Amino acid sequence: MDKIIIHGGRRLEGEVAVSGSKNAALPILISSLLTSEPCVYQGIPQLVDINTALKLLAGFGVVVDKESWVKGGGDIILRPDRVRNFEASYDLVRTMRASFLVLGPLLARFGYAHVSTPGGCAIGTRPVNLHLKGLAEMGATIEQVHGYVEAKAKKLRGAQIYLDLPSVGATENLMMAASLAEGTTVIENAAKEPEIEDLAAVLNQMGARVEGAGGDLIRVEGVSSLGGLTHRVIPDRIEAASFVIAGALIGGDVLVTGVRPAHLDAFFIKLKEAGIELSIDANGVRVKGNNTIKSVDVTTLPYPGFPTDMQAQMMVLMSVADGVSVITETIFENRFMHAQELDRMGADIRLEGNRAVVRGVKELSGAPVMATDLRASVSLVLAGLVANGTTEVSRVYHLDRGYEHIEKKFSKLGAAIERVKG
Ligand code: UD1
Repeated sequence: MDKIIIHGGRRLEGEVAVSGSKNAALPILISSLLTSEPCVYQGIPQLVDINTALKLLAGFGVVVDKESWVKGGGDIILRPDRVRNFEASYDLVRTMRASFLVLGPLLARFGYAHVSTPGGCAIGTRPVNLHLKGLAEMGATIEQVHGYVEAKAKKLRGAQIYLDLPSVGATENLMMAASLAEGTTVIENAAKEPEIEDLAAVLNQMGARVEGAGGDLIRVEGVSSLGGLTHRVIPDRIEAASFVIAGALIGGDVLVTGVRPAHLDAFFIKLKEAGIELSIDANGVRVKGNNTIKSVDVTTLPYPGFPTDMQAQMMVLMSVADGVSVITETIFENRFMHAQELDRMGADIRLEGNRAVVRGVKELSGAPVMATDLRASVSLVLAGLVANGTTEVSRVYHLDRGYEHIEKKFSKLGAAIERVKG
């Protein structure tokens, strides 16, 4: 297994460009199942999760042209006119939970889907009950047998659906299914994340009638068929914010380009409260390292609140802040696995249920640490960049799921970071 070795303490300087959004790209690639016409996607990041999605789609019979993407050009062309298999296996869904998003599109276009349930996850139980409840309300018959969901529907019909929680995945699954249903579907208490808006833009470009995405009430008027499209995915707000944290921790002067600042409002407000010097304009976000970082309390919330996907990285910043901060995680029940690893690097973090009390320390020191999930692993890299001495992050396959060429990007900014092949 590969490792990432970081010799900490080098100031970061220069520009880094943000890649396309993983969390936007995954549902968008999957939405190709709703049409028989070619779909061209641009700006797709080179990540392991994207490859898993392509494998999944190829397994259904979608013809995948990834030549440009493999060479780093970012384009993927999908030809979904010969879909003949409707099963998503446990192996693929377990590797990547977003695979479960095929359920709605397969059911809506073909009337049948056999999809493994994802099972538990390092950061929480992550059930899929809201996906299933919504599809049942649209007329699907759903049975769970041997860890698989078997869903059938001659024709899905529009329904009024209330989500008990604004689940990102459930909103996406139901929006896709509703696009080909008979009649109008209303999703109340929908998730409002920018990735939902990007998916709605894709669906509308395919001929769907989706209104209200980005708000908490989404209305989808079903149509009888959808067509192909060309679409460029939005930039990855979490990758962007992770680089901004790196700049705040140990920047001289770092410019993160290609960001859509409006997607990170809550995050920027918290950084400014922490005394971080940011300048945000059309060129990107410029961040200057600051000797005194002030401690701030942070609570993760559904968008537009502070993103749970930035909680681990924020914890690193608070680990070296002046004072005590309380970080409250409200989205996932077990998303503090990085805390123990950060403690091994000299941080002072006490966990109390869904709260982490972080007492800022003068400095972190390098140590061998282990990545446990995607965002936890990037937090360890960030800690390694600011720590004294050498940090060795193992299990970096988590990192490769969501951060494109991370060690190259940090090296270009001046970090002493390298990957050692295992
Ligand atoms: C997506 C993101 C992930 C991010 C998360 C929250 C992708 C591929 N992943 O995950 O990076 O951390 O949003 O912003 O876009 N829940 C239920 N029942 C359900 C569905 C969800 O109880 O049927 C709960 C989950 O257990 C969790 C909360 O709702 O506690 C939020 O989950 P959800 O918004 O669905 O996250 P994902 O779509 O899995």
